[in-house]
Amino acid sequence: TKTSMQENSVHPVQKKFYIETYGCQMNFADSEIVNAILLEKGMNQVTEAELADIILVNTCSIRENAETKVWNRLKEFRGLKAQNKSLTVGVLGCMAERIKDQIIEEEQLVDIVVGPDAYRDIPRLIEEVEDGRKAVNVLLSLEETYADIAPVRTTGNGVSAFVSIMRGCDNMCSFCVVPFTRGRERSRPLESILNEIRQLSDQGYKEVTLLGQNVNSYKDGNHTFSTLMDKASLLDPEMRFRFSSPHPKDFPDELLYLIAERPNLCNYIHIPAQAGSDSMLERMRRPYTRDQYLQLIEKMKGIIPGLSLSTDIIAGFCGETEEEHQQTLSLMREVEYDLAYMFAYSERERTLAYRKFEDDVPEEVKKRRLSEIISQQMSIQHRRNHDEIGQRHVVLVEGTSKRSEQQLSGRTDTNKIAVFDRKEFEKGDYVEVEITGATSATLIAKPIAKTSLGAYYSAVLEA
Ligand code: SAH
Ligand code: SF4
Ligand code: F3S
Repeated sequence: TKTSMQENSVHPVQKKFYIETYGCQMNFADSEIVNAILLEKGMNQVTEAELADIILVNTCSIRENAETKVWNRLKEFRGLKAQNKSLTVGVLGCMAERIKDQIIEEEQLVDIVVGPDAYRDIPRLIEEVEDGRKAVNVLLSLEETYADIAPVRTTGNGVSAFVSIMRGCDNMCSFCVVPFTRGRERSRPLESILNEIRQLSDQGYKEVTLLGQNVNSYKDGNHTFSTLMDKASLLDPEMRFRFSSPHPKDFPDELLYLIAERPNLCNYIHIPAQAGSDSMLERMRRPYTRDQYLQLIEKMKGIIPGLSLSTDIIAGFCGETEEEHQQTLSLMREVEYDLAYMFAYSERERTLAYRKFEDDVPEEVKKRRLSEIISQQMSIQHRRNHDEIGQRHVVLVEGTSKRSEQQLSGRTDTNKIAVFDRKEFEKGDYVEVEITGATSATLIAKPIAKTSLGAYYSAVLEA
């Protein structure tokens, strides 16, 4: 119950904000930073656009269709603006950098444009709009990591959380817009990352995914990504750790040994290949050859038993020949990924490919190659998942299964989704299960008993 004192101390017009997020996990993590900044200012968060005074859209530029989705959504919000003249609409994230002029010119669409390094400025920008102006800050920074801001996780499952460890990217892969939308690479101080993980552990979180565009170039003084993983895994032995994404060019061996040794470092690595031929990798400015990539995969599989792997693949990049496409398919057969994110190439302004190469693979050829890549991958996944039948895994329960109230859903250490009967188990439990069935996307399991990471692994070691 509120006292009148408290009523008085509340901001006269307590604004309600709504935030919608597109794109990668880093964008989702950024929205949690924005939550923190706005809640700090006394604003209230709402979960429906219709209820908000301020609608923020955290956007992605990675492919044309990511941007199209956002444009369409902004047009829907224009409808809301017509009904509510005081509604403010803001564009955050990766599109901000690219489309600020367009957005400002288009009346009645967007009032605020904020780039990924300017989120601290949002409260000021909102005030500026109250004076009837449009407000823009798309400055990129060499230092900003939001290290001191504790993200407010309002949309997660309370079990697994994302933690940003670095921002930006210096790799300049020729197809990729990220270095232009997010600026230079910089690492967040080690202590601030460890503090955040400690807090998550205290709040009952059981899984943390460390995020960056190129996590293996993490650096804070003498601390490397391996040091960070080492220290993180020791903070809470019952908390699982994952990371995304490492770059194949300088993956540290010591990290592989660490993953093999520590029960709470997951046996799952997302290691984007993009393509399977030397010629294509060179045009993409990916600084490794097919052989080097395959050697790395072999080493990973050798050091980490039961390792599961995933990748990103682009079909139909500039100049791609049928032979190069076949080499991508054969690389994927050779590695046998457990999961793959597969895309048709989408030309992005400002990139090297945009400036130097021609986007010359016809749309229908791109589509056909992509669907060959996808269907081959589905059959590999189907087979690999079927091979799991009879095996045991430890699943961290994330919540109720989408299919049935009677079932729980969670992930294996190897990042596969497993569903099983609810019984006495709860969200946040580690449950040992036996796999009884599989599709290309999901494992069906039979629960055996609640366990802990320590208990499970010492039992496995004794057997
Ligand atoms: N930093 C991450 C990738 C982030 S973008 C990494 O290097 O692993 C995620 C994926 O989107 C990329 O790996 C790539 O496969 C895909 N992608 C990037 N630019 C693209 C483009 N112009 N067209 C199609 N897919 C693209
Ligand atoms: Fe883009 Fe390459 Fe950087 Fe990944 S590593 S974000 S693909 S430039
Ligand atoms: Fe998209 Fe930006 Fe992430 S372009 S993929 S939201 S870094």
